[in-house]
Amino acid sequence: MSDRYAVVGHPVAHSRSPAIHAMFAAQTGEALSYERLLAPLDGFEATLRGFAAAGARGCNVTVPFKFEAFTLAAQRTPRAQRAGAVNTLRFDAAGWAGDNTDGAGLVNDIERNAGRRLAGLQLLLVGAGGAGAGVLGSLIDAKPARITIVNRSVDKAEALVASHHDLGVPLVAAGLADAPAAQDVVINATSTSLAGAASPVDARVLKPGSLALDMMYGPQAQGFLDWAAAHGAEPRDGLGMLVEQAAEAFFFWRGVRPDTASVLAALRAELESAS
Ligand code: ATR
Repeated sequence: MSDRYAVVGHPVAHSRSPAIHAMFAAQTGEALSYERLLAPLDGFEATLRGFAAAGARGCNVTVPFKFEAFTLAAQRTPRAQRAGAVNTLRFDAAGWAGDNTDGAGLVNDIERNAGRRLAGLQLLLVGAGGAGAGVLGSLIDAKPARITIVNRSVDKAEALVASHHDLGVPLVAAGLADAPAAQDVVINATSTSLAGAASPVDARVLKPGSLALDMMYGPQAQGFLDWAAAHGAEPRDGLGMLVEQAAEAFFFWRGVRPDTASVLAALRAELESAS
């Protein structure tokens, strides 16, 4: 009998997580199945309790339930605690354990797959919503020289700086128009690409060879990626982050680290043949 897992969200139909975890399972020989679970907006907890009662071992959590998952976890990893959100639950008999693998997924993608060590770099995080807040702690752990957080509503960027200020990396909050020039790495964590806009910040934030990463992938990221390439930066979408956060979740559940490079390549090929 294989152990059951799922991604729980609303919507969840387009999630690539089942394909990624199926590849991880095949590669490592772990006996598990992974499905999509659509939870009603007012029925996240009931959906989870039903799934756990049916013998499932854990789940990933996606929009809009990561904050509710945080409150349902009996214990949390330090990085989940810091993110204030949970994207991975393990249904332990002693109580549900919550982790947040988004930040580590982003950093691993930048450092291992894109080959950029973040230590000592100037980093710009665009967006202080749930996606930005969820990865900030892991970005700080990577020890860049400075992180500037810009957001349309500057108070949210200021709140993030206040809650992370004593972790050893200089943090600056600003509005979108005050984003600093010539950054080494620019990360788009806003949902502006959903509306088709190229970039919420001016191109002066880039310099030749900057890495410009959108946390989304597929058509939603294309405007930002084209904008970055047109200004001499190296564009990168969120597909690598997706695979890396999944690998961290897989490890949290199974204690086994899958190889991510082959899975990312397969997913990339699939995405390109679909477009
Ligand atoms: P998520 O979980 O995807 O981060 P969120 O918490 O709603 O979703 O945050 C959305 C982010 O996109 C925020 O940084 C938001 O800016 P505000 O905090 O000022 O709302 C940003 N965003 C959304 N639409 C935007 C737009 N048209 N221009 C600039 N930023 C935008």
